[in-house]
Amino acid sequence: MREHEQQRNGPGGFNRRDFLKGSGAVVAATAIATAEQEAQAQKAAAVQGPGKVDVTLTVNGKQHKLSIEPRTTLLDALRDQLNLTGCKDDYDTTSCSGSDTVIIDGKAVYASTRLAIEVQGQKIQTVESLRDGDKIDEVIAGFVKHDAMQCGFCTPGFVMATRAFLNQKPKATLEEIQSGLGGNICRCGTYKGITACALEIAKKGGA
Ligand code: FES
Repeated sequence: MREHEQQRNGPGGFNRRDFLKGSGAVVAATAIATAEQEAQAQKAAAVQGPGKVDVTLTVNGKQHKLSIEPRTTLLDALRDQLNLTGCKDDYDTTSCSGSDTVIIDGKAVYASTRLAIEVQGQKIQTVESLRDGDKIDEVIAGFVKHDAMQCGFCTPGFVMATRAFLNQKPKATLEEIQSGLGGNICRCGTYKGITACALEIAKKGGA
């Protein structure tokens, strides 16, 4: 074989046509695999509901087996099924004030924005977990001390947002606290007390 043909065909005699044939087969096989995966995903999604399905939630360290429709939000599951009414239901939309804030795997999350079925296997913490008999979390004590509530509707959500934030940033500055709690709204305007509470804990190193 001449030198230029060897270069064109490659040392092993593998030429451009062979390559295109091979890559075409790979593309076709990938497309078939993707279509099959999509079909399987659609089939799996199709079997969820609309009737009740079994859902297991891990809330405040305990497992709860529920029978609920797949469309049930985490907020509704907590309030209506588990009687954990600390998280509030204001407008049932994502434009809420954050009064439905819970902690999921360490992060503050609006419970109304998650379906219960999709948070299975994750650790869910509600405001009820911050009290153990007479022992209360320092954030709750700080809210009382700094008079950080009026009507109290936003308070459980703010407490959970503050707890999650201080867990992640135990030595936060005032600016960081104000920014970190920006996802919650208090219509009574108790921000001064809330930030004073968070700042006091942060100054102690986030106890
Ligand atoms: S205390 Fe009333 S909304 Fe915050």
